[in-house]
Amino acid sequence: MRRTRTRGPARRGGGARKRSLVIENIGLLVTQDPELGERRDVAVVVEDGVVAAIVDGASGVAADERLDAGGRCVVPGFVDSHTHLVFAGDRGEEFAARMAGAPYAAGGIGVTTAATRAASTEELVALAQARKVEAWRCGITHLEIKSGYGLDVEGERRLCEAASALTDDVTFLGAHLVPKEWEQDPDGYVDLVCGEMLAACAPFAKWIDVFCEEGAFDADQSRRVLEAGREAGLGLRVHGNQLGYGEGVRLACELGAASVDHCTYLTDADVEALAGSDTVATLLPATDFSTRQPYPDARRLLDAGAHVAVATNTNPGSSYTQSMAFCLALAVRDMHMTVDEALAAATTGGAKALQRTDLGHLGIGARGDAVVLDAPSPTHLVYRPGMDLVAATISGGEVVHSRYQGEGL
Ligand code: NIG
Repeated sequence: MRRTRTRGPARRGGGARKRSLVIENIGLLVTQDPELGERRDVAVVVEDGVVAAIVDGASGVAADERLDAGGRCVVPGFVDSHTHLVFAGDRGEEFAARMAGAPYAAGGIGVTTAATRAASTEELVALAQARKVEAWRCGITHLEIKSGYGLDVEGERRLCEAASALTDDVTFLGAHLVPKEWEQDPDGYVDLVCGEMLAACAPFAKWIDVFCEEGAFDADQSRRVLEAGREAGLGLRVHGNQLGYGEGVRLACELGAASVDHCTYLTDADVEALAGSDTVATLLPATDFSTRQPYPDARRLLDAGAHVAVATNTNPGSSYTQSMAFCLALAVRDMHMTVDEALAAATTGGAKALQRTDLGHLGIGARGDAVVLDAPSPTHLVYRPGMDLVAATISGGEVVHSRYQGEGL
C-alpha cells in the first residue's frame, strides 16, 4: 500500500487552503450511508478531516496526501461506544481462576480501583494513550471512555480529565461499585456520587452511567444517579442485565438513556421496551466470552426491531481486548448476526449509541474515519478469525496507523 505526500496542496476557489487526503484504488467501499451503499473501484477524498467526495475510477483529484489502497476493501472506522480505557493493573490471575471455574462478580472492580488509585496521573495518561494507539491498530477511530476506577471525588475527576484528552465522549461512572470504605453506607456513597463527585466530573464528561446490577447499584439508587446526571446536563447510559435479570434495561428505556449496555439476560418485557424506544442495546460479546456468560440474544433484539450496537468493553476484568474484529466474529458466529448487521452495529450502531451523526459512515460530510482492510470484503473480518486484517486506519483524514509504512505492494 503506497502513501505519498505532495507539497502545494489543492486550493479551492481562492479561499483558505484545505488539507486533503485521497484514499484511491479502493476495490470495495462500504459506506454505511443508505444512499451511497457499497461502491466498487472508487476513491474517497477527505478535506479538512471530513469526507468531501467519492469519485469513480482512478482518481485524478489533487491532494496533499494519497493513500493507494491497492484494490482493498475500505469500511468506516469502528466506533467503540463502550470502554473503560483509563486504568492501571492487570487481573490475569482472576481470569485464569475463572477459566478454572470461579464465577465473575462485580466485586473485581475493587481490585482495579486499588491499582488505579496507586498509579500517578502521568502513568494513567500514558497507559490510556498507549491503548488509544492500540485502538487505531484495531481499526477503531472513535472511543467512548468511562471513569469508574477512582470511586472517590479526586480519583474520578482525574480519570474523567485524562479521558477528555483522548475523546469528546467521556462518561462519568462514579456509580460503578460501592467502594470498600462506603460498604456500610451505600446510600451515603450514592449521595456523594450525585453531589460533590458529579460536580467535579461533569466539566469533563458528556455522559453519566451506572452499573445497575446485583452487587453494584439497585434500581432506586440507579435512578437517583441518572436523574442527578441529567440535572447536571449529562446524557444517560446504563450498564444493565449483565449478570442476571434485573431492572436496568427498563429503567434505561423509561429515562430515555442513549444506550443500555450488556443486555445478556433479557425478558420479553425488556425486549419489548427496547424495541419501542430509541435506547440502543449495546452488546459486548468479548465480555461474555471472557466471563463464560451466555451471549446476548442479538437475533431476538434485531428481529423485534431494537437498535443494536457492538462494542469492545475494554477493561482489565471482564474484557481485556481492543479487537473489534474479534467482537464481530463472536457477534456473527455465536450471536447469529449477519456480517452486515455486525459491521453496522460496530459503526452506525456505535455512533447511534453515542448520538453522533458524524461517525460510523462515509457519507459526504462525515468525519474522515476509515479502515483499509487487508481483504476484499468485510466478511473476511469474521471468516479469518484471529488475523490482523487492518492494513491502515484513517482518523479525521490522517493516516494514524499503516502496516506498510510507505512501502509499495
Ligand atoms: O462492563 N460491568 C461493569 N463494568 C465492567 C467490568 C469492570 C471490571 O470487572 O473491572 C464491565 O464488564
